[in-house]
Amino acid sequence: MFQMGTLALRSNLFLSPLAGYTNLPFRLVIREVGGVDLCTTDLVNARSLIERNPKALKLIETNDADRPLAVQLFGAVPEEMRDAALQLEALGISAIDINMGCPVRKVVKTGGGSAMMTELDKTHTLVRGMVDALKIPLTAKMRLGWDDNNLTAPDLARTLADAGIAAIFVHGRTRAQGFEGTVNLEGIRKVIEAVPDLPVVGNGDVTTAEAAKHMFEATGCAGVSIGRGAFYNPWIFKHTQHAIETGELLPEPTFDERIRVLRRHYDLMVEVFGENRGSVMFRKVAPWYAKRFGPAKPFNKAVVQISTRENFETVLADYLDWRETFTDTDGQLLPQYQLPPMVASFMNEPETAVEKRKAIPVPKGPIEVW
Ligand SMILES: Cc1cc2nc3c(=O)[nH]c(=O)nc-3n(C[C@H](O)[C@H](O)[C@H](O)COP(=O)(O)O)c2cc1C
Repeated sequence: MFQMGTLALRSNLFLSPLAGYTNLPFRLVIREVGGVDLCTTDLVNARSLIERNPKALKLIETNDADRPLAVQLFGAVPEEMRDAALQLEALGISAIDINMGCPVRKVVKTGGGSAMMTELDKTHTLVRGMVDALKIPLTAKMRLGWDDNNLTAPDLARTLADAGIAAIFVHGRTRAQGFEGTVNLEGIRKVIEAVPDLPVVGNGDVTTAEAAKHMFEATGCAGVSIGRGAFYNPWIFKHTQHAIETGELLPEPTFDERIRVLRRHYDLMVEVFGENRGSVMFRKVAPWYAKRFGPAKPFNKAVVQISTRENFETVLADYLDWRETFTDTDGQLLPQYQLPPMVASFMNEPETAVEKRKAIPVPKGPIEVW
């Protein structure tokens, strides 16, 4: 369904890397819900991996159910990037993604992330060195360019194609834009046109199956990658596949299904990170599920204080009781509490797009300015 170099994937939908969030438990939840095949880790510093830094090793923690997996590397020293990638290949990782879009100072000042967009010769040498050494496919993730006056992604894409990259992921915003404004579908289309022989995956603000379908149709992209939308809606991949195969848009999952998946996510966090750390880390995950619960203030307040499984169970039980005030006898939210459907920024009329985009908050992270 999606050929990425030598790797045949069963889905052309991808989980975007979200530093601080796309850890093993989240990837497993997404895979269990279905519709996705290749998932990507948070970005990992190539040098830290070579030095076997414990934090870097935790970022690449995986298991047999977490396949196929790509690890995203950042760095600007060709030998380090190559050696880190070779280590990952030896561990059974299916693909390596290079971060060329990160606008965070810590990454850019090393010459990695979006700095790579500005130095095409250096980038070519680095990528060629990795392609020559690796058997597994190498991909790159970029933004549209540095700013509106420098929409260099098509040039970078051509350089990467020449260096032997297997696929390109492009977030339809510039480095200067951060997360403001709308995603520029036309900009994504220009990257696709620049490299007709390479699969290009579009990315940015896809929060519904309808929006994913629109991105495919408006840009001609070979795949769509989803980050924040998968938080609200881990079902987005499955529903998008369904929409593409049948033309039918499925209703949002029920509250009971959301709670089932929330619980599963919590269990996996505890399994992978231990009860205390997993609970503390879950504090920033749970409010994303709650965004589609309807009234959830007390839940959001209480869940950010959990440290144990017992805390988690109490918060959830209290919330389920409290929420009954807002539901009918079938457990459905009363009409006045139902949420409006989600709409992606690029599906709106231009004048309301910025306003509507604010409905997709940027999660706080170790990384503040993606
Ligand atoms: C909290 C956060 C962390 C991110 N971490 C990464 C990362 O590690 N590597 C990367 O290439 N992009 C990263 N991104 C960018 C996303 O992969 C994606 O390109 C962007 O969020 C737009 O897609 P979305 O609207 O589907 O989330 C991050 C974004 C956010 C909000």
